[in-house]
Amino acid sequence: MYDDSLQAMMDRALENAGWVLLEKNRSFYARLGANLSALHELFMDLYGTTENAGELFTCLLETVIAADLARPEWLRASDARKSQQDKWFLSNQLAGMSLYVDRFCGTLPALETKLDYFGELGVSLLHLMPLFQSPPGESDGGYAVSDFRTVDPRFGTLGDLQRLREQMHGRGLYLMLDIVLNHTSHRHEWAQQAKTGNKKYQDYYYMYEDRTLPDAFERSLPEIFPESAPGNFSWVSECNRWVMTVFHDYQWDLNYRNPEVLIAMLDNIFFYANLGVDVLRIDAPAFIWKEAGTSCQNLPQAHFILQLMKLCIQAGAPGMALLGEAIVSPGEIMNYFGTGRYRGRECDFAYHATQMALQWDALATGNTKVMLAAQAVVLQKPGGTSWITYTRCHDDIGLGYDDAMIRQAGYNAYEHRKFLQDYYSGKYHASTATGALFSVHPRTGDARISGTLASLCGLEKALRDHDRDAVNVAINKILLMQSMSFFIGGMPMIFYGDEAGYTNSYDYLNEPGKRYDNRWMHRPVMNWDKNDRRHLPGTPEERIFTGTRKLLQIRRKLAAISDHSDLRWLTPHNIHVGAFTRQGAARTVLCIYNFSERPAYLTWYAFRESGKTPPKWFDHWTGETYRVGEDHEYLIVQPFGFHIMEEGQDHPGS
Ligand code: GLC
Repeated sequence: MYDDSLQAMMDRALENAGWVLLEKNRSFYARLGANLSALHELFMDLYGTTENAGELFTCLLETVIAADLARPEWLRASDARKSQQDKWFLSNQLAGMSLYVDRFCGTLPALETKLDYFGELGVSLLHLMPLFQSPPGESDGGYAVSDFRTVDPRFGTLGDLQRLREQMHGRGLYLMLDIVLNHTSHRHEWAQQAKTGNKKYQDYYYMYEDRTLPDAFERSLPEIFPESAPGNFSWVSECNRWVMTVFHDYQWDLNYRNPEVLIAMLDNIFFYANLGVDVLRIDAPAFIWKEAGTSCQNLPQAHFILQLMKLCIQAGAPGMALLGEAIVSPGEIMNYFGTGRYRGRECDFAYHATQMALQWDALATGNTKVMLAAQAVVLQKPGGTSWITYTRCHDDIGLGYDDAMIRQAGYNAYEHRKFLQDYYSGKYHASTATGALFSVHPRTGDARISGTLASLCGLEKALRDHDRDAVNVAINKILLMQSMSFFIGGMPMIFYGDEAGYTNSYDYLNEPGKRYDNRWMHRPVMNWDKNDRRHLPGTPEERIFTGTRKLLQIRRKLAAISDHSDLRWLTPHNIHVGAFTRQGAARTVLCIYNFSERPAYLTWYAFRESGKTPPKWFDHWTGETYRVGEDHEYLIVQPFGFHIMEEGQDHPGS
């Protein structure tokens, strides 16, 4: 709602910053004005009781204005281009790859020489894992940042990153980077200042002289890494204080109750935005607000902060989409798209962690019962937002879906999770998977799972056993898993190495800074001789790479795959099969997946039960055309096989 005094405050802030209305920044003025009262309301909800809340709000506005002043011309042009498409990031042309620059090829300049590889595979966005300074040995894969603006010399320089970005954009490759919002490294300047006793910076963290508050927090705070980092507070001997460290002891949780922290981190966000980041991955947003007596996850204030950041970014960097990395329960993940009047206005993307874990569930059990039980919740995603769909990422696989979903499928939740843990850690007698349990909770037995896509699908064991049939099965499983994640709606994010069938590496056990964290088993160091085998017909590398590339090619052809919240599941006529349609304005696409090791028979009735069905479907995966038969006849889906069918054509375009 328009408010005179707020408008005057904004105009004053613009004037003080030397901002003058010009043709090129007219739209910024409109955007900031439009978001102003919502921004103010959120800010006051969070910080209204702070003594100088008004001044601090002006500081926040100045930060957004400074970002606009610093926005380069080429980025303004790119913002304008993106705004002409209706939500550019929903497009079926997009598919990403997530990679560690050092493990992929060494350095940022070296990555420039690998850009053809992404074109060959059909990837159009790169998520470069954290690149900013992070102390060796205490880095958590770069998620313990000691300087948000200096590229770690291991990778190169900021100039190298800028050059790479330019090359990428020149080839139509989008860039995604992280902002590690929840914590800094204990070697960050703010933490160093806090250690010397500087009160201003001690207030940037949750620091306490004695155990009273830490103990109060601990009563309800779960542990994230119970094995390697038990407890949520660490003793800082330099200043004789306890500091909150929810992740590792070297990752100090930032105190967003202090508005200065919010403003400083917003400024860092704009620094990334003005480098030309297209999608900003907000690391661990579920944790950013702490309240004793709660789990300190998913609190309403964490959402207010994200909504506030979104409003600021919409004004100052409108072309940058936001991804919230909230790996929490299905219902909680949905909230990161915004609720109430912010529905669809918080994060543009969230990880589809629920679907990812459910695919692993289906692969182990051979049926889609739990997957289907979960859909009622995840189908509530607001229009205009999207998922990052994936089978693997750099983190573990958490079986974070609800017990009720498991029960609805007819299983006992505890036993079912135990089965999945045993299955993927290879303990279950009939399992072909080679993985490991991560962060086993000594008391509850809760555990997550580490391992590469290929190893968890059985390739490591099959190769070890020289079992050609088992290799075939493993490759079918890999492509089945990738295919479902590419077509279910959202932007697929391939984890580097998975496109070439990398199995687990156990080298991390020899590295002191890594050996306590078995997630490193699925973060490979690329061996480019191995990747070159993608050109050798019949090798696993070639079959997986070619299959993955073909899936991406099909995806780009099918406009119905753009994420317009049009997913409809077919009734489960066969519990081994998961099948859904994607409709949109384009021709309907029907995707069918068999998670069982036996052929699955799917009655043709399944095709027509929701109304008329086209008489013919063209399968882009096999190249065959299927005629819809009688109700008593069947489509036979091969073991771990799938179909990507487009309606009504013998061949597309005919
Ligand atoms: C995120 C990252 C994970 C990291 C954690 C702490 O979940 O994906 O790798 O350990 O945040 O920053």
